Amino acid sequence: MPGYPVLPEGLAYGGDYNPEQWPEEVWREDVRLMREAGVTLVTVGVFNWGLIEPREGEYDFSRLDRILDLLHSAGVYADLATPTSSPPTWFRRRYPGSRLVDREGHVLGGGSRHSFCPSSPDYAAASERVVAALAARYAAHPAVAMWHVHNEYGWANAHCYCATSTEAFRAWLRERYGDVGALNAAWGTTFWGLTYGSFDEVEPPVAAPVGLLTGLQLDFMRFSVDAHIACFRRERDTIRRFSDLPVTTNFMIPNCKPMDYWRWAAEVDVVANDHYLDSARADPHIELAMAADLTRSVAGGRPWMLMEHSTGAVNWQPRNLAKRPGEMRRNTLAHVARGSDSAMFFQWRASRYGAEKFHSAMVPHAGTDSRIWRDVVALGADLRALAEVRGARVTAEVAVVWDWESYWALEFEWRPSADLRFRERIEAYYEALWREHVTVDFVHSSADLSPYRLVVAPSSYLLAEAAAKNLHLYVEAGGHLLVSYFSGIVDENDTIHPGPYPGALRDVLGVAVEEFHPLREHETVMLRSPGSPEVSQPAATGRIWSERVRLAGAEAVREFADGPDAGHPAVTRHDLGAGSAWYVSTALDGESGLRDLVAEVLDHAGVSRPRGLPDTLELVRRGDHLFLINHADAPVTVDGVTGAGVLDGAAYDGSATVPAGGVVVVRT
Ligand code: GLA
Repeated sequence: MPGYPVLPEGLAYGGDYNPEQWPEEVWREDVRLMREAGVTLVTVGVFNWGLIEPREGEYDFSRLDRILDLLHSAGVYADLATPTSSPPTWFRRRYPGSRLVDREGHVLGGGSRHSFCPSSPDYAAASERVVAALAARYAAHPAVAMWHVHNEYGWANAHCYCATSTEAFRAWLRERYGDVGALNAAWGTTFWGLTYGSFDEVEPPVAAPVGLLTGLQLDFMRFSVDAHIACFRRERDTIRRFSDLPVTTNFMIPNCKPMDYWRWAAEVDVVANDHYLDSARADPHIELAMAADLTRSVAGGRPWMLMEHSTGAVNWQPRNLAKRPGEMRRNTLAHVARGSDSAMFFQWRASRYGAEKFHSAMVPHAGTDSRIWRDVVALGADLRALAEVRGARVTAEVAVVWDWESYWALEFEWRPSADLRFRERIEAYYEALWREHVTVDFVHSSADLSPYRLVVAPSSYLLAEAAAKNLHLYVEAGGHLLVSYFSGIVDENDTIHPGPYPGALRDVLGVAVEEFHPLREHETVMLRSPGSPEVSQPAATGRIWSERVRLAGAEAVREFADGPDAGHPAVTRHDLGAGSAWYVSTALDGESGLRDLVAEVLDHAGVSRPRGLPDTLELVRRGDHLFLINHADAPVTVDGVTGAGVLDGAAYDGSATVPAGGVVVVRT
């Protein structure tokens, strides 16, 4: 099987290149500038279907021929994209049955990309034809280094509710359940008497008067992932008939909730990801780090590709903030620190027209006499210096459980509190670990957990029996487990595990929960050490959740000092076998108790980490290289650092000072 790396040497640097938006004299300037910046790889042809097949069955590759030849003459490789995320305007008119239908039954319009039904046989046939024509023509082109199938599967058309999708969903259910009795049992359809007499009675979860069967919703999410994966496989296998080069597609981890990327990972030769900063966040680089760690984990620890990020503002957030000086460099190098072997942007040259003309680019509208361009050239030099990290791995002692099915199920309607959000708790725990300078992997709850000293499960509402057993065995064998509330509640069908909550985790945690006591919006509860009458200096403050925990083998580490569960356990620890299992029954946050608790658990689990550093310093080890990324406005000195500075050529002997907003990478 073809694999990684895709380029003969170094880290790939470049971006989406859309020269079809420009006259040819601009192309010549483009390649000159690419060389100036040290660009080595560009993604071409992503939205070219209507250009290379202007009429059905009639191909015109003349422009793409010239572009690929030009790139080759400049020594720039192409990540050649199949154009199937944006079907041509003729396709929609010719095949009206392929149109996307939303859950309210609207047939969505054209004049945009992603406007097609993933289960459409007409789309399947037409996309396979254009991919075959493209692959046949360019498989042997010397500029082509890899294939980029489609663009961001499931971004805008994750779910289609048309008649074709309905039939495909029924076929998928028949395959999964065999007979309709098994489906009825899995979905619990005696509830409201919604029992199905045959698969043909099943409708997708379209807009309904009140709450829908959650089993139906879960299976429709699963079916839709399969529908998109089938589209990918069709294209990948078509390319394979002509070419052995690596094939990928760009994921959107973790910002495309409907796609289960654990399932996707096995399909691609190299995992590629698109990531954009969320300008509304106070510290968006922490979410970036989480995305990069999750991407590396989806890639099974192997190097991955950052396929898109931005030099500055995007165009699709409510307020599109420009990156501050040094921020792009810190962002890019944080992705590299966390395992990316590439730094690619959307896009090379800012568009003058269309929906994305206010999106930043490597060549902005301001041209080359601009901060962005100077930073792009400087980043090229950084990446050349970092060529030696290519292929190196990141290792982690701590893992965080992430399960897309739990994400979906938790956020269906009618949960005990609207404040129960999957990412809310994961991000709280991730941030606490990030600020403790602990690098984490993400894992599915059924994964091999033996490499980790500590496994954190902040949001594992849905947990299959076998996965719960996996966690139990992990603890017995000496692992340490930290679980947050409303975890282990339901199985893979969204059916509550029998007995008191948290059914699937009761034994390992040594607790039983008698009743949930969700808090009002903005209400808080105080925690104290068990038995301590003092609340003037609370050990912690909780939000969102409180519940009546009964000890069943565990001991209380903190208790509620007030609120509905005053005097009852709030945080517990269960020593089990050679390990321990901790349980937190309220929403603790950074300085209001979570940092302290996480530090206590890390110590208990024997997780090594540097001490005494500011919590604005990002510290990651990748192979022999230590990345120090300073997100603060003041320099920081890190002791115990000896080695060669890769970006600055400095020799560090015992300590390194990272300038304000700067990055130091040391070969140790
Ligand atoms: C996505 C797409 C790109 C572009 C960018 C804009 O990542 O793949 O084509 O639309 O968003 O941020």
